[in-house]
Amino acid sequence: MNSTTQNTGTHLVEQLAATSDAAPSQRLLHARGTWAQGEFVPSPGAAGISTAPVFAAPRTPVTARFSTTLGGSGGHDGDPGDQGLAIRVGDLDLVTFTLPVFFVRTGADLVAFLRATRSGDPAALPAFLREHPEAETALGFAAKARPVPSFTGVTYHAVHAFGLVDAAGTTRWVRLSLRPLHPLPALEPAEALALPGDYLTRDLADRLPARFELTAHLPGPEDELHDPTRLWAGTGTVPLGTLALTGVQEPSAEPPFDPLRLPPGVLAPRDRLSKDRSAAYAAARARRHA
Ligand code: HEM
Repeated sequence: MNSTTQNTGTHLVEQLAATSDAAPSQRLLHARGTWAQGEFVPSPGAAGISTAPVFAAPRTPVTARFSTTLGGSGGHDGDPGDQGLAIRVGDLDLVTFTLPVFFVRTGADLVAFLRATRSGDPAALPAFLREHPEAETALGFAAKARPVPSFTGVTYHAVHAFGLVDAAGTTRWVRLSLRPLHPLPALEPAEALALPGDYLTRDLADRLPARFELTAHLPGPEDELHDPTRLWAGTGTVPLGTLALTGVQEPSAEPPFDPLRLPPGVLAPRDRLSKDRSAAYAAARARRHA
């Protein structure tokens, strides 16, 4: 990482920290979470679409962390908010969450969005939305989200477009998601809030093994490839493989998840959001471990 990227990340993280009451040792977002281990087995056609080693190897070990986005360590898993799933599979990291699009296009806009939602001023969010109408789509999904019964029953999206490059050098821009083979119906908010505050973490061991399909979602001809705030109209999908999580187990060393840690055969997203995220995660880890 060059020093400009490092400064961007540090500055962003200082600003995020100012909107949060998380302790310095905690993640500023996605504080509550739990680890799992498993493996990834590619689909028969995956190696034809990308030369990434994870699609050529018969199986690759996976380290995963499930998380809840909001509320810090004192929050309740049944509170409104989305869930996250970060996986490290070989030389590929996917850092995903349960909304199909993101609220904003840059780290600076995320800070402004969080300031508006956390200010306590009822006029702040409408004012933000007048400046940033792109946030409406993700807010619509967030408003409809209901508490989940388990981390294992919901779809996680990587949001950005990644370029899958085949052996002939052809690139296909796709959005990647992890879809549960056994989706679970949502809980009523009151039902979820009656459970222990960390029920998603407590529940995980009983839900494993759990399987997710890694799916490549293809854009339609009119879709804006590199705007992570916009849904794609394209409905085509290609299965890339199965993630099987088999055990709850904390890794001996936390993998430094980075949405831009990508193998040959997978091109980095061209949006600004992914660059700001990558810089912020490195700075946030440094802050937590300082
Ligand atoms: C500019 C936009 C974003 C910024 C600045 C940001 C910032 C952060 C920060 C500071 C953390 C805590 C990192 C740590 O302490 O290790 C975090 C964690 C996380 N973020 Fe983001 N985030 C952004 C967008 C997103 C998006 C679009 C997604 C999903 C597609 C996402 C999913 C996650 C997940 C799953 C974690 C937890 C990772 C783990 O388990 O270690 N974030 N984010």
